[in-house]
Amino acid sequence: MGFAVRLRQHARPLSVAPGETILEAALAQGVAYPHGCRSGNCGACKSRLHDGEVELAPFSEYALSEAERAEGLILACRALPWSDAEVSWLDSDEIVLHPQRRLVCRVAALDELTHDIRRVRLAIEAGGPFDFSAGQYASLAFGALPPRDYSMANRPDEALLEFHIRRMGAGSVSAYVAERLRPGDAVIAEGPLGAAHLRATHAGPILAIAGGSGLAPIKSIVETALASGSRQPIHLYVGARDERDLYLVEHFASLEAAHENFRFVPVLSEPLRATRRRTGFVHEAVAADFAALDGAKAYVAGPPVMVEAATALLVEELGLAREHVHADAFYTEADKAARSVAAG
Ligand code: FES
Repeated sequence: MGFAVRLRQHARPLSVAPGETILEAALAQGVAYPHGCRSGNCGACKSRLHDGEVELAPFSEYALSEAERAEGLILACRALPWSDAEVSWLDSDEIVLHPQRRLVCRVAALDELTHDIRRVRLAIEAGGPFDFSAGQYASLAFGALPPRDYSMANRPDEALLEFHIRRMGAGSVSAYVAERLRPGDAVIAEGPLGAAHLRATHAGPILAIAGGSGLAPIKSIVETALASGSRQPIHLYVGARDERDLYLVEHFASLEAAHENFRFVPVLSEPLRATRRRTGFVHEAVAADFAALDGAKAYVAGPPVMVEAATALLVEELGLAREHVHADAFYTEADKAARSVAAG
């Protein structure tokens, strides 16, 4: 006699025979349960156990970490029920849990991306490995200054961490980075943080919208999606005030030339001289180009006003469900202070 396993994404319960895994039973009973290796190595069948008991056959830590197991996650391909149970496979929108790390890093390279955005590349010297999902951020501490949050612009599989740090006011941490930071300086990075990351199992179109240094997480997302070899359409819209505020234009133009599924659209909101580029606000360019976004996911990062305008457009006018918009607004310390005053 076996056990009944209810699946939250399926109407009828599975009947799971003794010695049979939940995945085996599901596939045998015609349920399209997400899976890959069937051997506890890839994590594609990761699921949440809502009720009941299962035994997990051996699996790799890569497929399911201890922290995930403690959170109630299981691998369906390794799960042998010991009682009736209820499970759901992880929706692609489920937050990915990576171990939190405190990394000791050194500045490996510095270069100027625009007149006010500096690229900082960090080599990890201790505290790794640093696993993160494209689009996440870390808290960086330079010297004795208070830590600040910055998004990783590199792909998770690249060795150097890359950040795009825009200079804010005099006396700010970003001013220190602009004026005083030198190659070889120590930097402490803690993370990863943030939920506006690439949903790697989503195969539909990607609409990525960046404003200013919000291009950092969006670059990581776009490059990770392209590097996966996926053929999904990827549209990258980058908003900047003037030509001098755009950066990595040649880089993205060359990616566009190399990938026929990738489109790069820079948009200038306040060009100081005549331009052949698209002009206006970046979300207006998106509105002009799309009537609907069936099956798409959107990733949006940049100044709060731009993120809010883009999100409103995507949800209210283009009909994208809110859960398919993954947005990361970059609040300055002044923004945060204003918000806490308003909230108080
Ligand atoms: S299918 Fe790969 S871990 Fe379960």
